[in-house]
Amino acid sequence: MSTNALITGWGMYAPSRVMTNDDLAKMVDTSDEWIVSRTGIRERRVAADDETTTSMSVNAARDALAVAGLDPAELDLVILATCTPDYPLPATSVTVASELGATRAAGFDLQAACSGFLYAYAAGSSFISSGMYRNVLVVGVEILSRFLDFTDRTTCVLFGDGAGAVLLQASEGPGGLLGIDLFSDGAGCEAIIVPGGGAINPASHETVDARMHNIRMLGSEVYKYATRQMGETALAALRQAGLSVDDVDQFVFHQANLRIINSVQKQFGIPDAKTFVNIEKYGNTSAASVPMALVEAVASGRIKEGDRILMVAFGGGYTAGGAVVEWTADPARALLAPGEQTRMGQPQRTLEGAAV
Ligand code: ACO
Repeated sequence: MSTNALITGWGMYAPSRVMTNDDLAKMVDTSDEWIVSRTGIRERRVAADDETTTSMSVNAARDALAVAGLDPAELDLVILATCTPDYPLPATSVTVASELGATRAAGFDLQAACSGFLYAYAAGSSFISSGMYRNVLVVGVEILSRFLDFTDRTTCVLFGDGAGAVLLQASEGPGGLLGIDLFSDGAGCEAIIVPGGGAINPASHETVDARMHNIRMLGSEVYKYATRQMGETALAALRQAGLSVDDVDQFVFHQANLRIINSVQKQFGIPDAKTFVNIEKYGNTSAASVPMALVEAVASGRIKEGDRILMVAFGGGYTAGGAVVEWTADPARALLAPGEQTRMGQPQRTLEGAAV
């Protein structure tokens, strides 16, 4: 009998500080009209000075554990996907595990830019299906605001901060991951890059003066590649699952640009009712984008037990990832989460099944 990795808990955290397009228009030469029409973004969240990648992850993870009803001490592994860790060394997953009280969990970080959550989800599922672990926490988190150049209008309007987490648990029952595809192409290395602070350009006065510790992006090149690759990765994951586009109940795309999402919808004839979008509230939160969208899609009643969902992301590297998942949890369990962030959207009924 095979062991499946089921999502039994989910949670998200978005910092309370909202930065609107009008706020940005006071800092750089841009406008609400330009940002909304080119990206679909209306506002994004920005972490407070005392918030960290660890603290945001812990908020999302506590909700995921509460939804599943799992004691943190039962966690076997924490996999944390981010390109904005608290430190280059050590891994943020380890400080997250400590703060959660996951006393016997292993932990490692994973970097695949905006596709990071899909890579982490694939890794977590594999640890479970191989029989090595039974309880794996997967976090996607970013504090991109700390890596933005707020004088560069071509990047600073696009990104935001946030965290999303899912708990994967071993089960001999059906459901969970049905098909997955991961992709990378280093030809995109310089298209989305933080050039300073690594081994090639270690931090120096010169790298700071040249703003090499901020994100740089060749927007229109990334846009063209992303539009094609999101579709190809989605199809590859579906092929692996032996399913077609029409078999999917809800698409949870990486929220980088509404026009990229709309273009994939058009390519495959996917209706809006099957396409969850929350980019208008958060912008591109990179590795946190897919799990945050997943949490809100569940909270808003878009995802029900037995539904097949397709999560697809594209990001720096280039990287991409797609996963077809059969959802098995009762969405109303979100009400067990202590953090109000999980309750964004409207839970459709109580835990006992009554309409609310
Ligand atoms: N406000 C006003 N004007 C702007 C702004 C702004 N914020 N930014 C750029 N412009 C100007 C440009 O300077 C340019 O002016 P010009 O014609 O005088 O030179 C004009 O608007 C058009 O610029 P483009 O870059 O061609 O605009 P485009 O329609 O391509 O939209 C965007 C830019 C939104 C960045 C788009 O290319 C995009 O979404 N790219 C993909 C981003 C993405 O998906 N990233 C995902 C991965 S990120 C990660 O992994 C960390």
